[in-house]
Amino acid sequence: MSMFLLWVLMLLPFLPLSSSSHSEAIEALLSRLDTKRAAPSVQESAAKAVLQRLLPTHLDSFQFEIVSKDVCGGKSCFWISNYNVSSKNGLEIMIKGTTAVEIASGLHWYIKYWCGAHVSWDKTGGIQIASIPKPGSLPLVKDEGVLIQRPVPWNYYQNVVTSSYSYVWWDWERWEKEIDWMALQGVNLPLAFNGQEAIWQKVLMDFNISKKDLNGFFGGPAFLAWARMGNLHGWGGPLSQNWLDQQLVLQKQILSRMLELGMTPVLPSFSGNVPEALKKIFPSANITRLGEWNTVDNNTRWCCTYLLDASDPLFIQIGKAFIKQQIKEYGDVTDIYNCDTFNENSPPTNDPAYISSLGAAIYKAMSQGDKDSVWLMQGWLFYSDSGFWKPPQMKALLHSVPFGKMVVLDLFADAKPIWRTSSQFYGTPYIWCMLHNFGGNIEMYGILDAVSSGPVDARISKNSTMVGVGMCMEGIEQNAVVYELMSEMAFRSEKVQLVEWLKTYSYRRYGKAVHHVEAAWEILYRTIYHCTDGIAVCFWDKSIGHIIVTIFLFPFWKIVLQNIIVIFYGMIHISMVLLSCLDYANSPFS
Ligand SMILES: *[C@@H]1O[C@H](CO)[C@@H](O)[C@H](O)[C@H]1NC(C)=O
Ligand SMILES: *[C@@H]1O[C@H](CO)[C@@H](O)[C@H](O)[C@H]1NC(C)=O
Ligand SMILES: *[C@@H]1O[C@H](CO)[C@@H](O)[C@H](O)[C@H]1NC(C)=O
Ligand SMILES: *[C@@H]1O[C@H](CO)[C@@H](O)[C@H](O)[C@H]1NC(C)=O
Ligand SMILES: *[C@@H]1O[C@H](CO)[C@@H](O)[C@H](O)[C@H]1NC(C)=O
Repeated sequence: MSMFLLWVLMLLPFLPLSSSSHSEAIEALLSRLDTKRAAPSVQESAAKAVLQRLLPTHLDSFQFEIVSKDVCGGKSCFWISNYNVSSKNGLEIMIKGTTAVEIASGLHWYIKYWCGAHVSWDKTGGIQIASIPKPGSLPLVKDEGVLIQRPVPWNYYQNVVTSSYSYVWWDWERWEKEIDWMALQGVNLPLAFNGQEAIWQKVLMDFNISKKDLNGFFGGPAFLAWARMGNLHGWGGPLSQNWLDQQLVLQKQILSRMLELGMTPVLPSFSGNVPEALKKIFPSANITRLGEWNTVDNNTRWCCTYLLDASDPLFIQIGKAFIKQQIKEYGDVTDIYNCDTFNENSPPTNDPAYISSLGAAIYKAMSQGDKDSVWLMQGWLFYSDSGFWKPPQMKALLHSVPFGKMVVLDLFADAKPIWRTSSQFYGTPYIWCMLHNFGGNIEMYGILDAVSSGPVDARISKNSTMVGVGMCMEGIEQNAVVYELMSEMAFRSEKVQLVEWLKTYSYRRYGKAVHHVEAAWEILYRTIYHCTDGIAVCFWDKSIGHIIVTIFLFPFWKIVLQNIIVIFYGMIHISMVLLSCLDYANSPFS
């Protein structure tokens, strides 16, 4: 052995110590989650079933196979190749993947980029597969095929409020479609939040809370998200026993489908939000009443919920019981639990030692229910309440649990990334998320440049602690282009060249290449889809405000100039309207 090599080997243990122990903790978590995955044959059938629902005519054209990560250099991947030409049974394309999600993503990649198909939510154009050639004439891929690795292990999906803005009235049929959509887009870390009130009912009744007390605690179906977060209680309720039971049945269907597809569901955990009656049953428990949130008339029937302090021993008892009850109902399906105790609700003091003890208590409650639990936290507070969460407070919270036991969502990274200003969450693994949608509103807008480059910049940055990409919009079923691009970032190691990408997008979406449509998309890309402050008002409100101010304050020649600008905006507006008409019709050119 040369002296040089020896020298390098001696140095090795000291050099990247912190970052390698960091990635080891994540590797350990990933392999533990792998052991919970459904058997390869189950996942292969689940992927086949996605194909059957998407493209039943081609069921015999594809073969799916689960492979180990060794095939992909230790990462998750899909691998599209030609099936042996000599085969007589109709098989044409082989798709291998490390889980059924990768197989479905490979299928989606193939029908997009070889067959010109387009998959979207029903409300944003639906599934357009008329361009896929008949069985027997599917296009070949080159040589050894196409192997695409995930640059980061996770692709997260949902926001804690999506359940209220978008999913509230969904039945299994709609959920099944959504889970297919998730698999095709490569989502492997979705929230699974249905039915948690049914779990709470069982847990809290064990703590001697009556069903009647719970009527004033749970929110109604459309307001569950805010009742869960302790923003309000009782509003829109009470929930009938029938609703609770039916949601639990639905949750079990959702979970088993996610598991068959090889996803890791994220379950809820206890954040301290408790019914008023708990105060009477446990008079010595430290329960504080919160102030008025944006609720109704300051009426205490709806407002000002109760928070059990995380340092109270009862917190751990309830938190543990909640996790245990979920495991009892669903089995050992995950280690990842969401908890957002401090969302729009600051701790009583900014003393880092106290914040650290609160964080530790929250994690203790979780880990007593599931010893391997990992706390997934929305990083919204660091943005929305940045006055409180200064570096010492952030560090205290992020370092209150052992390394690798917390993953943060950089929730608004598309517009206001926290990873840059916080030294990558002070070493805590995080997921680069696109928030994009507020309140389920349906304006046409987005920040395509940030989506195509942000995750790449974050991943290759020095000392990166990024472990995933994600979509955590408040409401879904709008701006299909933004969601399609973001989903692709789960499989892209390099930035996307958007002008080119949008050409293929419009080709797939409208069924053929039309120069004017491509030109219109380029305008949209440089205007409403270049909305850099990340909220829909940026373009129209500012420009219209600007026009009004100019008209009233400036001399005539400026008004003439302004009119030219108005005409320009008018043209953009007309092209937007035209495009949205095209957008909502299936294959308008066919
Ligand atoms: C095709 O068949 C040949 C000969 O049987 C075999 O060596 C090769 O691995 C097969 N290819 C695939 C993609 O299955
Ligand atoms: C609930 O009430 C029963 C009967 O009064 C009592 O034995 C039990 O300890 C109580 N449970 C809790 C968790 O306080
Ligand atoms: C709500 O009511 C409480 C108590 O009645 C009062 O102290 C508080 O100022 C009220 N808040 C608002 C926003 O009206
Ligand atoms: C009770 O909780 C409040 C608010 O969470 C906290 O300020 C206070 O220190 C706690 N009291 C005790 C005795 O732990
Ligand atoms: C990366 O980490 C090293 C070691 O902790 C530190 O010295 C360096 O400043 C960090 N670089 C950046 C760009 O954060």
